[in-house]
Amino acid sequence: MNYIPSETRYTDKMPYEYCGNSGLLLPRISLGLWHNFGDVDDFGVAGDMIKYAFDAGITHFDLANNYGPSPGSAETNFGKILKRNFLGYRDEMIISSKAGHLMWPGPYGDGSSRKNLMASINQSLKRTGLDYFDIFYSHRYDGVTPVEETMQALIDIVRQGKALYVGISKYPVDKAKQAYGILKNAGVPCLIHQDRYSMFTRDVENGTLQSAHEAGAGFIAFSPLAQGMLTNKYLYGIPEGSRAARATGFLKREQISEDKIRAARSLNELAERRNQSLAQMALAWVLNNEYVTSVIIGASSVRQLSDNLDALNNSSFTKEELEAISQILSTVNGNMPK
Ligand SMILES: NC(=O)c1ccc[n+]([C@@H]2O[C@H](COP(=O)([O-])OP(=O)(O)OC[C@H]3O[C@@H](n4cnc5c(N)ncnc54)[C@H](OP(=O)(O)O)[C@@H]3O)[C@@H](O)[C@H]2O)c1
Repeated sequence: MNYIPSETRYTDKMPYEYCGNSGLLLPRISLGLWHNFGDVDDFGVAGDMIKYAFDAGITHFDLANNYGPSPGSAETNFGKILKRNFLGYRDEMIISSKAGHLMWPGPYGDGSSRKNLMASINQSLKRTGLDYFDIFYSHRYDGVTPVEETMQALIDIVRQGKALYVGISKYPVDKAKQAYGILKNAGVPCLIHQDRYSMFTRDVENGTLQSAHEAGAGFIAFSPLAQGMLTNKYLYGIPEGSRAARATGFLKREQISEDKIRAARSLNELAERRNQSLAQMALAWVLNNEYVTSVIIGASSVRQLSDNLDALNNSSFTKEELEAISQILSTVNGNMPK
């Protein structure tokens, strides 16, 4: 049977927030396709997750050229899902992609050069079947390419009509500030900074969040569940089929350290006292930061998505709860902001 989007998809389920100083509203919870949408994954489940997400008011889907595996297959699969189920709904969606990590062989398939970005967006448009991306990112500062060169490529991408807005991802604070200035002067302001932010990784509190805010850019947090470590999944071992157990997953067994698991167990107890799951509390905690526009979650099932969306129903914290969380997080090695 053909999928028909729910008529109640925008009825008070999902709050939306303006992204920085722009007029673009993003859902507080967005869905990322880094894992679970590649050609090693179940295409049926992938489609069900996109449909469930859209029905719950998730209008923002985050891709990158290299998501899979195989690299590119998440874009191809997303394009198929769109074509089969969402014809006529493109204007209700914010679809992003990125270029900057290794994608094809040779000297031009990696990094932040103009050559890489220009070739990559053409490939990504072809794979997804889209006419344009809503947001196109420089996926990383590569340590070599002048920021001017990468930003000029982003500016030209917008001028060519291949993206409506641009963003940067994982830029160090000094390079981010430079990028904001160049983009602003060209009349193509940076919409958004995307970086890793969770209870377990708080580096962005050391200037990234503040500088994005001062530049009028929004901030979107990726891996807000620390790839699953901030859920009840790893509290008592590494379950079969989990990201850490899968050969294709980016979460390595050795990352599931004792101090993190001990902290996750304590956080889990606190979440239980708040009548929510650890995943829900972890998302609520990130969203509680005033500079965070949205969190990009990953999921491997509709059940996880549904669990995570309930974070929105209990998203405020008492002073005592925040202090207790801070105390627990201080036991995680190298985690506290400077
Ligand atoms: N800009 C960048 O460089 C960059 C880098 C990384 C990610 N991202 C973006 O951020 C998105 C999210 O990253 P992420 O997937 O690492 O996010 P995450 O939300 O921290 O982790 C998602 C994983 O946690 C597990 N999980 C989620 N909900 C759960 C629940 N309720 N109960 C138990 N387990 C649960 C699932 O793993 P299992 O498979 O074990 O079930 C799921 O795949 C990506 O898809 C991508 O769009 C961007």
